[in-house]
Amino acid sequence: MPPNRRAKRRPLEIIHTAEWMRLASREASVAARVVGLIPTMGALHDGHFSLIRAARGQCSPVVVSIFVNPLQFGANEDFGKYPLTMEKDRTALESLGVDYLFAPESSEMYPPGFRTSIHVEGLSERLEGRSRPGHFQGVATVVLKLMEIVQPNFCYFGRKDAQQIRIVRQMVRDLDIASEVVDCPIVREPDGLAMSSRNEYLNNDERVAATGLHRSLKRARENISHGERNPGQLLGEIREILEREPLLRVDYAEIVDVHTLEPVVKLRGECLILLAVFSGRTRLIDNALITESGRSFVVTI
Ligand code: PAF
Repeated sequence: MPPNRRAKRRPLEIIHTAEWMRLASREASVAARVVGLIPTMGALHDGHFSLIRAARGQCSPVVVSIFVNPLQFGANEDFGKYPLTMEKDRTALESLGVDYLFAPESSEMYPPGFRTSIHVEGLSERLEGRSRPGHFQGVATVVLKLMEIVQPNFCYFGRKDAQQIRIVRQMVRDLDIASEVVDCPIVREPDGLAMSSRNEYLNNDERVAATGLHRSLKRARENISHGERNPGQLLGEIREILEREPLLRVDYAEIVDVHTLEPVVKLRGECLILLAVFSGRTRLIDNALITESGRSFVVTI
């Protein structure tokens, strides 16, 4: 990796076409600068801001893309009502010192006649993929396109979307993409709810009930620290906590191997507790990473 020659910061530049974005990135890489990309769908919150700060520590220029990707939404999902807060987002990006906002139109990303999609086999069909068929094909396709356009040295993702990160990493490896995937910790509200653009959909009661996800993960951490190693037992208590809340409905709660995303029969190596839970009509996800460390396990929530 060449040394990052930090050029003087310029005001945020907004780019709408792939061609201009590619030119700006090429210019940066010719000047031996390190390009960082944070792909987003907008409605930016502290979770995104933490990715931007991480990128600013390593990269210049920093590119944030805002594109609500139709390919990753199912027919009955919230594509039509996904929050759009472009003005607010732009102001935030300016104050965070982001160099480029890449905000393409859908017709720019998927012009008439677009036919290609990326499918990461074996990792895309389970968990989120089972509940949201085609979702990860849409994610992998748009992330690959964004990486091709921006050519980032580093590309930043939040760990809340643990399955997404696993799939993107696999795609980057399989397709020899010259970008490094950087994953950053989950950012939570003071009461533990993982930050998400979809939290905006929650009414007061649903918002309170939604803290059950974090509480159930904390209980699992407590149980593991007291020696529990049986995924069935751990999941039993997680479900009990979630099902106690009348507004919550569990879509799935699983403990899986980090690499294969297959359920484990015993905690070993690195595992993930993955949750998808409806609070009212809003589907929320959350997770905890369990890492074997000598004879004990560290649980990162
Ligand atoms: O995590 C998201 O916001 C989206 O899945 C991503 C990575 C921006 C692709 O549309």
